[in-house]
Amino acid sequence: MMSSDLSSSHDAWASTPPKVTRPNPCCEPPNLLGECMFLGFVAILGITCVLLCKLILWLFHVEIDFGQPAWLQWLQRPEKQDVNTWLNGQKSIINFSFAGVSKPQDTLHLRAAANENIALAFNITNSLTTASTSTHKNFLKMASGTINRPGRDWIKLFEKATSTLTAELPRDTSQPLHLAEATRITCLKVVLIDNFQISSDSLPRDSLVIITDEINNQWLKAKSSSEKPVISSLLIHHLTALQRRDPRCLCWPFDQLKPEEILSMIMPQYETLWRVVMVTYILAFHLYPSPTLPSRISSVPECLGTNSLEEREALKLAKEGLRLTPSNKRIYRHTPSSSFKIKADLELMHRHPSIWGPTALEFSPSRFDNLSPLQTEAYLPYSLRPHRCPAFGGFGDRMVTCLVVAMGRVLDTKAGKVFNTEPTKRAGVVDTGRDGLEGWRYQRG
Ligand code: HEM
Repeated sequence: MMSSDLSSSHDAWASTPPKVTRPNPCCEPPNLLGECMFLGFVAILGITCVLLCKLILWLFHVEIDFGQPAWLQWLQRPEKQDVNTWLNGQKSIINFSFAGVSKPQDTLHLRAAANENIALAFNITNSLTTASTSTHKNFLKMASGTINRPGRDWIKLFEKATSTLTAELPRDTSQPLHLAEATRITCLKVVLIDNFQISSDSLPRDSLVIITDEINNQWLKAKSSSEKPVISSLLIHHLTALQRRDPRCLCWPFDQLKPEEILSMIMPQYETLWRVVMVTYILAFHLYPSPTLPSRISSVPECLGTNSLEEREALKLAKEGLRLTPSNKRIYRHTPSSSFKIKADLELMHRHPSIWGPTALEFSPSRFDNLSPLQTEAYLPYSLRPHRCPAFGGFGDRMVTCLVVAMGRVLDTKAGKVFNTEPTKRAGVVDTGRDGLEGWRYQRG
C-alpha cells in the first residue's frame, strides 16, 4: 500500500514536475537595508582613511603642496635630515642636478613646464617661461642690457619714488595709507621709467592701480586655479592705453611693443620687487628699528652705483630683506619623467635656525657683516647657475634699497606708524604672502 502510494505519487511527480521556487535575482525585491549598510560602511572606511592620512601628515609636519606628492615632501623634511644634506638637496633642485640635466634645452624645459600657468595668465614669453634656447638667450641679453645700462640716474629714480609716495598720502591726515597699493604703484612706476624712459606724466595713477591689481589677480589665478588661466583683457587694455599716452619715449620703442611683450619684460622686475620692498620697509623702519639704521642709509641715493663702502653698508638693508622675504619663496622645477613639480624652499633656507641661529626670524642687516660659510651657501635670493638672475651682481640690491629708503623717508617713523588691519596668524613674522600684505596701513600722527 505504502509502496503503491509511493509509486503513484512518484508517477505523479514524474508527469507534472513540481514547482520549484528558486531565488531569481532579477525579480527578487532589493535588500535596501543591506545595500545601505554596505555603502555606509564604505563611506565610513573612506572618511577614516582620509582622517588617518591627515593625522599622519600632521604628525610628520608634511605640508601638501600643489603638484608635489606628499611622499616626496616627506623625504625632503629638513628637520629629519642633517642640515647640510637637506641644503644640498635643495640646491640640487635649484641647479637642476636632481634631474641629471645640464644642457640649456633640458633645464629650460623643466623650468618652463613648472611656470606654465604664469606664462598663460600673462601671455608672456621670457627666459623664465620659455623652453626655446634662442628665446631665452635673446631675452637674457635684453635683460642684461637693461640692468647694465651705463649712467643710470639713481637719484632721479629715488626722486620719482618719493614724489609718487608723497602723492599717495591721503589729504585727510586722519585717513591711513594703503601700503600695499602705494608700494605696488611706486615699484611699477619706477620700473617703467627705468626700462622705457617714460615720463611720469604719462603714467596716470588710475591706470597703474588697475594694472597692478590685475597683475595681482592674474598671479593668484595662476598659482591657485586648477583651470588653465587666460590673459586679462582689462590688463591688456590699460597697458595699451599707457603706450598711446607716450608714443615718443627716449630709449625704447615702448609704443611698438605688444602689451604682452611689455609684460614679459617688466614681470621679472616688478613682481620680484614690490613685496620685498614693502616688507623690508615695515621690518627695517617699524618692527626692528636699529640705532644704526640712520647712518646705514644716510648716503642713499647718492651712494647707489658707486661701489663704495657707504653703498655696501646701505645694500645690507636689501640683503637682509631678501633673506627674510625672498622674491621667489619657492623655486619650482618639473621632474623629467613624471607630471609633478618639485620645489626648493628658499624661504626656509633663509630662515632655518640651524643655519641662521636663534635670531633667524629677526631683521638684522648687520648679520651680513660676517656670514658663516654655511649661511653664504644657504643664501640664494637670485638662485644659482645655470639660471641665476642677471640682477645678481648688485642691481637687484640697489633697486630694493632705493625703493625701501624712499618709503622710509616719505612714510617716516617720526611722522606716523604702521599697523595691520588683518593680524597675521604666525606671531613674530610678517606674513609675506600676497594676501597677507593687504591689511597694512600707514597712519600719520
Ligand atoms: C630684487 C630683484 C630680483 C630678484 C630677487 C630676482 C630673482 C630671480 C630669481 C630667483 C631667478 C631665478 C629663477 C630660477 O632659478 O628659475 C631670476 C631669474 C631671472 N631674472 Fe631676476 N630677480 C630680480 C630682478 C630682476 C631684474 C631687475 C631683471 C631684469 C631686468 C631680472 C631678470 C631675470 C631673468 C631674465 C632671469 C632668468 C635668468 C636665466 O634664466 O638665466 N630679474 N630672478
